[in-house]
Amino acid sequence: MKGLLLAGGYGTRLRPLTFVGNKHMLPIANKPILLYGLEHLRDAGITNIGIILGPLREGIVQALGDGSKFGVKITYLEQPEPKGLAHAVLVAEEYLDNESFTMYLGDNLLRQGAKPLVDVMQKNESDCVVAVTNVKDPSSYGVVVFNDDGTVKNLVEKPKEPISNWALIGVYVFNNKIFDAAKKIKPSWRGELEITDAIQTLLNDGARVDVQRVQGWWKDTGKPQDLLEANQLVLRDLIPYNKGRIEETATVTNNVAIGEGTVVHSRTTIRGPVIIGNHCEIGPNAYIGPYTSIGDDSTIRNSEIENTIVMEGARIDCGRRITDSLIGRKVEVQSSENNVPKGHSLIIGDMSYVTL
Ligand code: TTP
Repeated sequence: MKGLLLAGGYGTRLRPLTFVGNKHMLPIANKPILLYGLEHLRDAGITNIGIILGPLREGIVQALGDGSKFGVKITYLEQPEPKGLAHAVLVAEEYLDNESFTMYLGDNLLRQGAKPLVDVMQKNESDCVVAVTNVKDPSSYGVVVFNDDGTVKNLVEKPKEPISNWALIGVYVFNNKIFDAAKKIKPSWRGELEITDAIQTLLNDGARVDVQRVQGWWKDTGKPQDLLEANQLVLRDLIPYNKGRIEETATVTNNVAIGEGTVVHSRTTIRGPVIIGNHCEIGPNAYIGPYTSIGDDSTIRNSEIENTIVMEGARIDCGRRITDSLIGRKVEVQSSENNVPKGHSLIIGDMSYVTL
């Protein structure tokens, strides 16, 4: 079986962070989102992985290379325009070469990984396995409607009536029947070849479509708030370590992971779960609260930070409390305390979002 990891698209809902980089390289607990999917495919025994690259691809090839340092073989596939998930399948047709494959949307995170779907596929000799989760409001998802005997009746995209609460999430397993199905469908109202239409075509043609109900949490990281929630979910399972140095008058409690060369200075409190990268300076006079991730080479002093993702190379020294925030690479946040006249001085890119 091969893997197909999708990293195309524009990531418009994550602007401005996606103006300068690809959304799949944004860090969750200091690891690019895309790596979670890659590792889940590998852990399901899939070592040949095609990665769909779209118009924004900064950093992906540099970070993942040929895959050897992750124990997989990566082939990059070009999808210059995001014309839909079924279009991505067709882009990969030659690479997939009639083998069964697991398709993983690179912006999805799910605790159980991909193996349970592969197991269903092998046990049932299915043509397709979809993963579903129970959601309160299914109106923004594709949903699966079941027959009385539990088999799949049909799929409905963004149902207006409450027809089913079982929403499709971003992992699928297919055999080669999906290629004919994807070729039969027409673009939807939003101009995309929808994978739900292709799966519905499989059903109409009598193919066997099975469902796996996901165990544990799942998160689609489309919007800024989703990144913070995903960060919380991953940090809940954080295994603590200390590869740095904690000065005597600093207090570190709960699960905290501290990277190489990082120094936690005096009069600093860190209350986990918190992950801090390599070569950071934390404190003096800092508080780092639960569900915070701090990227490599960052400096945080005279500040309080909680439930926040701070990316590499940030410098924060502002005498304030920062909560529920996403702070991009090499960002500086300083105090205006000694400035005259007083006031907030902002240099913020297009479509940034600030709460003062
Ligand atoms: P989406 O979240 O639907 O699209 P997007 O990433 O472009 O974001 P936005 O809606 O904010 O502009 O995409 C889901 C995943 O699938 C994501 O990992 C990108 C990937 N994708 C492709 O690789 N090719 C495609 O044609 C599409 C539509 C998505």
